[in-house]
Amino acid sequence: MATEYTRAYWENVLSELRPEGRHFIDGALRQATSGATFTRIRPMDGKPGAVLSRGNAADIDTAVAAARAAFESGVWRKKEPLEKKKVMLRWAELIRSHGEELAMLETLDVGKPILASLNVDVRLCADGIQYYGEMIDKMYDEIAPTGPNARALVRKVPLGVIGAITPWNYPMIIEGWKLGPAIAAGNSVVLKPAEQSSLSAIRLAQLAFEAGLPAGVLNVVTGLGEEAGAPLALHMDVDMIAFTGSTEVGKLIMGYAAQSNVKRVALELGGKSPLVVFEDADLDAAAAAAAWGCFYNSGETCHASTRLIVHRSVQDELIRKIEDVTRNDIALKHPLEPSAQIGALIEEEHMRKVLDMIAAGEKEGARRAFGAERVMSETGGYYISPGVFVDLTNDMSLARQEIFGPVLAAIPFDTEDEALRIANDTIYGLAGAVFTRDMNRAHRFSEEIHAGTVWINTYDMSSFATPFGGFKQSGFGRDRSVHAIDKYCDYKTIWQQFG
Ligand code: NAI
Ligand code: MG
Repeated sequence: MATEYTRAYWENVLSELRPEGRHFIDGALRQATSGATFTRIRPMDGKPGAVLSRGNAADIDTAVAAARAAFESGVWRKKEPLEKKKVMLRWAELIRSHGEELAMLETLDVGKPILASLNVDVRLCADGIQYYGEMIDKMYDEIAPTGPNARALVRKVPLGVIGAITPWNYPMIIEGWKLGPAIAAGNSVVLKPAEQSSLSAIRLAQLAFEAGLPAGVLNVVTGLGEEAGAPLALHMDVDMIAFTGSTEVGKLIMGYAAQSNVKRVALELGGKSPLVVFEDADLDAAAAAAAWGCFYNSGETCHASTRLIVHRSVQDELIRKIEDVTRNDIALKHPLEPSAQIGALIEEEHMRKVLDMIAAGEKEGARRAFGAERVMSETGGYYISPGVFVDLTNDMSLARQEIFGPVLAAIPFDTEDEALRIANDTIYGLAGAVFTRDMNRAHRFSEEIHAGTVWINTYDMSSFATPFGGFKQSGFGRDRSVHAIDKYCDYKTIWQQFG
């Protein structure tokens, strides 16, 4: 019988939870070398939550050494592909069977609704590990065309030690996107999760070990960006950094790579994605896509549809419909309420930053249609209601800056050329969408919007089969799909001469 997920059920899961906050290095839990810790504040109610090890360069050194030793020994890299696949599939199953626990860890850290954590984040993490596990015994190398007396093998080989630095908005999903292909390719990994969301990462690493991933192949060091992330990215024995986070820190990561050992870098950074609505569009569909595209996860989504570029003749009607969807369908509630669709923002500092951006936008003359206010403050948590600003121009701060909160900027246009110009007038290029019944126009826009993903008459649809990542200052390199493996490998030529 299916479990009935009531608030009381989840309160009980929470009361029984004993989150683990230590590093996971070389198959074992460890305190930080310095003994230092930090306490996570729960976004749902502002109360102190888990205590975590505050790692620094010494812990990173230990973890990188363990990762290197595992790589050199070949204990994983040289294992039979079929055996490696079985380990990853077992890992995916363990993630599923620990779904409620992992979901609760994620909700505690991030403040997102418990059923979103369970049905979206945990599910997609497990699916990602499974997807790359299944690839392991289906990848072939190449034989290059040479003369008859030579045979040249073009082998795709793992890089070695991968440093993964991940953000707090979709911790488990993004970690699955990176750990799946990096480990499937035969690398070892040191993961530095965001300081706001380390609990699920530690648990994922424990479950991988339980599934049979050898010690040292996946290590987790918790701690702050400057103290643990920077030494990882500066490390002389790390071959690559796979990073998701702010554009600001992405630029630092490139610098760290240049200052150290020219390690490779893959960056998945911010966005300010346009959703263009023409006057002939299905406005109900456009309204639902715009609202969910911008407000899901409280707007803490790199590819959120934060710029609504709408034909002037339908702006008012569309905004009314967006308000209906927001008020009727996107329930903002305490994250342990099963009916919550969105929950808290990640932390007080971030909530204040979002409120400051809203205030600055209003000072510039942005007109509020509804929402975008602090609510539920009596809970002690960090909640902002979804809101829309209308009649903006694309030079206003609400239309330019990544807010990472539930704030939609509506920008009216009159001509198709103008709509395209506005859509591309951003430093970012992560995603975009066009709503129109004219398929010729939809085709033109899908070709001309400069972004890693463009949706036609929908938003945020994806699968593991489609690559995800950006152009311009949204970064480079792709997560998901078979292509993600390439980031964690390089080609090696083996030339054999005969006769
Ligand atoms: P951030 O970019 O500082 O944090 C992301 C990760 O980088 C975390 O693991 C953090 O510990 C690490 N980090 C921070 N400084 C570092 C350094 N000097 N060296 C190495 N690693 C470092 O993001 P933050 O400060 O949490 O959020 C700021 C803004 O960034 C958000 O408001 C949002 O606009 C954007 N952001 C974008 C994300 C995306 O999915 N593209 C995810 C998170 C934030
Ligand atoms: Mg930061």
